[in-house]
Amino acid sequence: MLRKLIAGNWKMNGLKAEGVALARDLGIRYAEDEDAAFDMLICPPATLIDSVGEVIAGSGILLGGQDCHSETAGAHTGDVSAEMLADLGCSWVIVGHSERRQDHGEIDLAVAEKAKAVHRAGLCAIICIGETEAERAAGHALSICSRQLAGSIPTNATAENTVIAYEPVWAIGTGKTATAGDVADVHSHIRAELSRKIADADKVRILYGGSVKPANAAELMSVPNVDGALVGGASLKADDFWAIGQSCA
Ligand code: 13P
Repeated sequence: MLRKLIAGNWKMNGLKAEGVALARDLGIRYAEDEDAAFDMLICPPATLIDSVGEVIAGSGILLGGQDCHSETAGAHTGDVSAEMLADLGCSWVIVGHSERRQDHGEIDLAVAEKAKAVHRAGLCAIICIGETEAERAAGHALSICSRQLAGSIPTNATAENTVIAYEPVWAIGTGKTATAGDVADVHSHIRAELSRKIADADKVRILYGGSVKPANAAELMSVPNVDGALVGGASLKADDFWAIGQSCA
């Protein structure tokens, strides 16, 4: 069994005071829990990375960005590079989230370029994939995941620098979750597909995301090939996010 990764994607949420308070609360809990059976990662909005990094320093909680540009630096107004995220203490970057794919038209190739940039900066990429409701209804869930994996994983990916997050788009922020059986099917399919691209595919962590909450976390985290969670809404409440971590025990 791989050590579970519980990652909080705060998305575009949090002003400084509340973000810092949330991070401080989690930092205290994680630092005090010497037997924590999971790695905890927080991905705040770019505006809060520096201040969140300061309050979780020394707690053992990992820090990450939600996106990055594929270039190191240059004339790209509004973007941040992986090197800039590394400079603030990030060790992880989420790439290819469905909200980026939808809102910013990011295609698989662009996601692969971003993941390559994350690796270039010495960080770990969380590469997100997942089908829409219409694609699942049409019976294409597995083939969409295959296509996104084939196109979004750069050639230098290893189990050390890459994590996959399966986030069915229809389950994100909707309160709907995939059944344990559906998650098991997709995750074992992802594991098989990874072996075509990554030598140590059995060591790559595969996260589930989409309306993960304390009430469903234990069941989801016990599904074979589920090696953690990428949590949106519930990561904004310290009690809920902590309870999701505890469900890994
Ligand atoms: P929710 O947990 O709010 O459904 O969001 C999931 C997600 O998109 C995490 O990246």
